[in-house]
Amino acid sequence: MLAAGSFATLGAFASGRDLAARTFAVDQPSALRFPDGFRWGTATSAYQVEGAAREDGRGPSIWDTFSQTPGRIRDGSTGDAGADHYHRYKEDVALMKALGTKAYRFSIAWPRLFPDGTGALNPKGLAFYDRLVDELLAAGIEPYATLYHWDLPQALQDKGGWQARDTALAFGDYAAEVARRLTDRVRHVFTLNEMLTFVEHGYESGVFAPGLKLEPAALHQVRHHAVLAHGLAVQAVRAQGRSGTEIGPAENMMIALPAVETPAHVRAAEAATREMNAPYLTVMLEGRYTDAYLAEAGAAAPKFTARDLEIIASPVDFVGLNVYTPGHYVLASEAEPGWAVVPMPASYPRMASDWLTIGPESLYWAPRHAARLWGVKDIYITENGTSAADRPGPDGVVYDIDRVMYLRNYLTQLQRATAEGVPVRGYFLWSLLDNFEWADGYATRFGLVHVDYATQRRTPKLSASFYREVVARNAVV
Ligand code: FCB
Repeated sequence: MLAAGSFATLGAFASGRDLAARTFAVDQPSALRFPDGFRWGTATSAYQVEGAAREDGRGPSIWDTFSQTPGRIRDGSTGDAGADHYHRYKEDVALMKALGTKAYRFSIAWPRLFPDGTGALNPKGLAFYDRLVDELLAAGIEPYATLYHWDLPQALQDKGGWQARDTALAFGDYAAEVARRLTDRVRHVFTLNEMLTFVEHGYESGVFAPGLKLEPAALHQVRHHAVLAHGLAVQAVRAQGRSGTEIGPAENMMIALPAVETPAHVRAAEAATREMNAPYLTVMLEGRYTDAYLAEAGAAAPKFTARDLEIIASPVDFVGLNVYTPGHYVLASEAEPGWAVVPMPASYPRMASDWLTIGPESLYWAPRHAARLWGVKDIYITENGTSAADRPGPDGVVYDIDRVMYLRNYLTQLQRATAEGVPVRGYFLWSLLDNFEWADGYATRFGLVHVDYATQRRTPKLSASFYREVVARNAVV
């Protein structure tokens, strides 16, 4: 431990002419800079922040049903109130503006527009997104809208949910209506958020809505319907949206990282990443299921037509990647399939959520793999961020240096990617606000801005100051 006096000594030692001569990277405005025009933003999703669950004709979603079921949410909470963004969106847009961000990724609640999933549009539900989009544009912030962030209308779940092919068709119709109504102002659209997560957690382990544990054949069919819905939405937006509207997925690609960064292990990590994403990004970007995926599924493989594959692989304008954790570290192997997964040691570091292992290089490898494997030309990091055990200090501010540590390390790796020419166009930090973290309820906080749920009062954390500097300098600080 340094006594207070030691700092004075160090200060005296480093002052004067010596100090001027010793200039390090952090003193140079050009260090760890991002490309000009790089878009900085924040992200949220409808069910997590909006609240107003029963207002203006919104229909129930599977997350309403799930969170109202005792034992499903860790703190027994629901998204009924969320962060009250539905009523406080103006204040929230002002917070984004104060951060200096020029982009905002939000999601549209399907059950606000179509309370039963299909049928007549609910104009009051649409009016909220009109107000939000107008407020964003007036503040100089580009709206990036996600069509599906897991809040499936309950009425569609009652008819089979994602197990039913009709749900994918209904999603295409909903996407077409959003395109007709909003793409005069919303120029970037994401189809489905994190298929990997909502399918595996919602339909396999059952820890997310709708809480099912399906057998392999049914599960494979759900995956197929999700990618089919994506393709139908791409086509609907192309057909019905203003010309030039850009569309793509926002997927949490399973990332295989080379445990040792040499060419042989990098090739192994690329091959592993392609295979680990076979039912999602790989089929969407290659137009076919890999042989290994179909062989492994065997009799449980999804039922599909050649036409389905064409729809699924409808060309996209960009790929959005949500990046939090290193999925798997791998090493090249002599044995088939040419790579081996390294088991995670018990001591591997984590943030405040059990699942949130810390792997800054994920933000280098995820976009790089997407660019190399599939030739993706425009990539957005559609989510990255961390939970932290935030506690306001005596002055009411949360000094979340752990979140700052996490972000600085990840952003350093993202800068490494852009400096090497990996085509990443923007970054959306998850999240602007503390919000309803799915099965973890409100106990787990991901925001740059602290929300006191008793009063809905917003207070920027230290990480908000950090991010504001990153945005202003277009560089890691
Ligand atoms: C992602 C989700 C997002 C949020 C973060 C922490 O998987 O897309 O809604 O919950 O995790």
